[in-house]
Amino acid sequence: MVGGGAREHTLVWKLAQSPKVKEVYAAPGNAGTAQIARNLDTDPSNIEGLAKVARGKGIELVVIGPEALLAEGIVDRFQSIGIPTFGPTKGATQIESSKAFARGLMQKYGIPCPRSVSFSEYSQAKEYVKQQTPPIVIKADGLAAGKGVTVAETIPQALEALVNIMELKTLGAAGDRVVIEEYLSGKEMSSFVFTDSKTVVPMVSACDYKRIYDEDKGANSGGMGSYSPPHFYTPELGKAVTETIMKPAIKAMEKEKRLYHGVLYGGLMITNEGPRVLEFNARFGDPETQVILPRLKTDLVDILLAVINGSLDQIDVEWSEDACVGVVMASGGYPGSYKTGFPITGLDSLDKDIMVFHAGTKVGAEPGQVLTSGGRVLSVVATASTLAEAREKVYANIARIHFEGCHYRKDIALIKEGVG
Ligand code: AMP
Ligand code: GLY
Repeated sequence: MVGGGAREHTLVWKLAQSPKVKEVYAAPGNAGTAQIARNLDTDPSNIEGLAKVARGKGIELVVIGPEALLAEGIVDRFQSIGIPTFGPTKGATQIESSKAFARGLMQKYGIPCPRSVSFSEYSQAKEYVKQQTPPIVIKADGLAAGKGVTVAETIPQALEALVNIMELKTLGAAGDRVVIEEYLSGKEMSSFVFTDSKTVVPMVSACDYKRIYDEDKGANSGGMGSYSPPHFYTPELGKAVTETIMKPAIKAMEKEKRLYHGVLYGGLMITNEGPRVLEFNARFGDPETQVILPRLKTDLVDILLAVINGSLDQIDVEWSEDACVGVVMASGGYPGSYKTGFPITGLDSLDKDIMVFHAGTKVGAEPGQVLTSGGRVLSVVATASTLAEAREKVYANIARIHFEGCHYRKDIALIKEGVG
């Protein structure tokens, strides 16, 4: 398992449950993965270094968490030396790594999405923006770790975002091109499928919370919590997503000679006219994975191998009916600057069925000690027969966990009419 966040801990946890798995290695992992896997102290951004370790240890299945490695071509490289690796190739990862490519694909193949235009010249982008009616959405083309999107309420705000991205290059080469698009309103939902490029198997859907404070106030973060299923989910909506978005997208990638193997993640806006794609990602979501995999009943290893081998049509993927809620505990100051190295207490006082997936944690010097080491520290997760019960369980247990400066949202999976 390559990566070190709570998404990766969740994947390690699920992989380790498979009777087919002897041992899981995490690169670099965290204090949570250290309890169920072996953490490797290889530089997780060095593809050749990772390849060497994978070969040396005879690793038979590699799973990639973060998009940056996919975009760099880790899957192409590992497959070329015979290491079975879960995730799309570099060419197929363009569906996430270039928003202009993704929008071009959606337009060419009629996949429902907002109206959008790409520009690589600042002066042309500026002229276009001036003719629009706000709100309007400005996106840097490349990977920007969640910082590339501005929903501008006014034209001056949109122009400021353009200057930052294209002239001041605040996001580096990710801002060589911009995509300017129509603002859509509705409810946001994250949908995921497994695909071996022929068969498309939907996962359960989830909602995530990006803003740092309750009621969606404050700065954008890497994700402060999630829940599954969305309170507005219906089987008809699921069917519309699979039939009008996911299957056509996988087919489109085949037509473009970018065969897609792995997880396709649609960040969707559910509008009055139906689901629309805000973005595609080429990987599992974080923090959605933390509330999706606990609902998976099928052996994850069987699914991942079938995706790699092109035999996904042979697998029956089953999900539990349970609701699942996950709340992220973050360091004080995050997503701005924050201090680390604080001991985390209370992890041994939780109810037995509570899951704690680690992100920014490391093993401390004293026996059993866990220290904070990042912005997002833990995802605390519970399942129950209703969202309300799962939510109650999570918050009752979170109250027992402490570290200095700890911050979390209190409104994850709190369903209010007209919000979310
Ligand atoms: P993205 O990274 O493209 O998913 O965008 C980040 C966030 O910006 C999304 O979760 C939405 O809340 C918002 N967003 C992106 N595109 C649009 C759009 N066309 N209309 C409304 N909101 C959007
Ligand atoms: N949940 C947002 C992401 O994984 O990109």
